[in-house]
Amino acid sequence: MLNEVLEKTLISEAEIKARVSELAKQIEKDYEGKAPTIVGVLKGSIMFYTDLVRQIDLPLTVDFMSISSYGAGVNSTGEVKIIKDIDGKIGGKDVIIVEDIIDSGYSMNCLLKLFATRSPKSVKVCTLLDKPSRREIPVPIDYTGFQVANEFVVGYGLDYAGLYRNFPFIGVLKKEVYEK
Ligand code: IMP
Ligand code: MG
Repeated sequence: MLNEVLEKTLISEAEIKARVSELAKQIEKDYEGKAPTIVGVLKGSIMFYTDLVRQIDLPLTVDFMSISSYGAGVNSTGEVKIIKDIDGKIGGKDVIIVEDIIDSGYSMNCLLKLFATRSPKSVKVCTLLDKPSRREIPVPIDYTGFQVANEFVVGYGLDYAGLYRNFPFIGVLKKEVYEK
């Protein structure tokens, strides 16, 4: 299946593992003495999220949010729909939002605006991937795993039309898969 849909492997399992460890150590250091709430954005961040939090030695709490901006295509509509909100209260808390990828920036912009209305002590953004060439609205990013070029990527949580999230690495999707 991999060979049929992927142009190439972009980031290997080992590279992801090494970078996630570095990010976890950085967060641990930056939040020393604190008890952050780590908010995962479903579903794309699942692999990154679980690998990341397991390596952060802090009294953190977990929470999740589900949003959708895409339907089945590869381009953001700019419209962000909240499918599931976080369960907990973030007033007075240090919050870290964990995303799979920041592309146009609309999704994260919307989340940051929403969270700001809830009076957290602080909010930081941690994204596995950043595609800066596609940005339509600026987003402050505090922790980035990897910057990627303007190619559609899948695997390690990222999907195309709901598929390929289970690949343990990140690959570039063949154009013919989404242009057919
Ligand atoms: P944004 O609102 O355009 O920044 O889009 C963010 C969301 O779009 C991400 O959380 C992903 O779900 C999705 N997305 C953007 N680029 C890609 C990609 O290359 N592969 C898979 N999903 C992507
Ligand atoms: Mg997403």
